[in-house]
Amino acid sequence: MPVVRGKAIEVLFSASAIARRNLELAKEIASRDHQDLLVIAILKGSFVFAADLVRAMHDAGLAPEVEFITISSYGSGTTSGELRVLRDIDSDPKGRDVLLIDDILESGKTLKYARDLMLSRGANSVSVATLLDKRMRRKSAIDADFVGFDCPDHFVVGYGMDVGHAFRELPFVGIVTGDA
Ligand code: IMP
Ligand code: MG
Repeated sequence: MPVVRGKAIEVLFSASAIARRNLELAKEIASRDHQDLLVIAILKGSFVFAADLVRAMHDAGLAPEVEFITISSYGSGTTSGELRVLRDIDSDPKGRDVLLIDDILESGKTLKYARDLMLSRGANSVSVATLLDKRMRRKSAIDADFVGFDCPDHFVVGYGMDVGHAFRELPFVGIVTGDA
């Protein structure tokens, strides 16, 4: 088991499994009809997934524009409170097909907020790609159009995802099991 910061991490999705899945996702995305595709990565957690997915999308023949939005909940910790935009996109989504990319879809509050925001700005369509889906945790009426993996009901880290700002750099997704 990898040990990082003195903690043993159980690997849930390996770097190679994620890379393979990203190529499949990109092909699924490319098989849909998009006009003037605008990809929006929801920071911070999606930064690694988005970086890999947009390059896989290029390999699948797509040429999107890429933007970033930072959405944060007022509350701290691992649950989502009230949401707000900390840093907005620079482009206008009006009339465009938007693809939101997030690391993990849990309660759905974050992605529903982002989707409603882009629709209110006149996006032609808004679809959602998430690396991980914790369906059992859903509270808002939203589903992803493209899902990397169904995620067990554990707090996961790595591949962009953190606990207390740590572990984002891991090339895999894992569970912190305890002191090594
Ligand atoms: P939602 O609004 O409840 O769907 O929250 C989703 C966001 O919470 C994700 O984009 C992550 O940033 C964060 N999150 C949810 N579950 C986890 C987890 O297991 N590990 C790390 N971050 C998580
Ligand atoms: Mg996130």
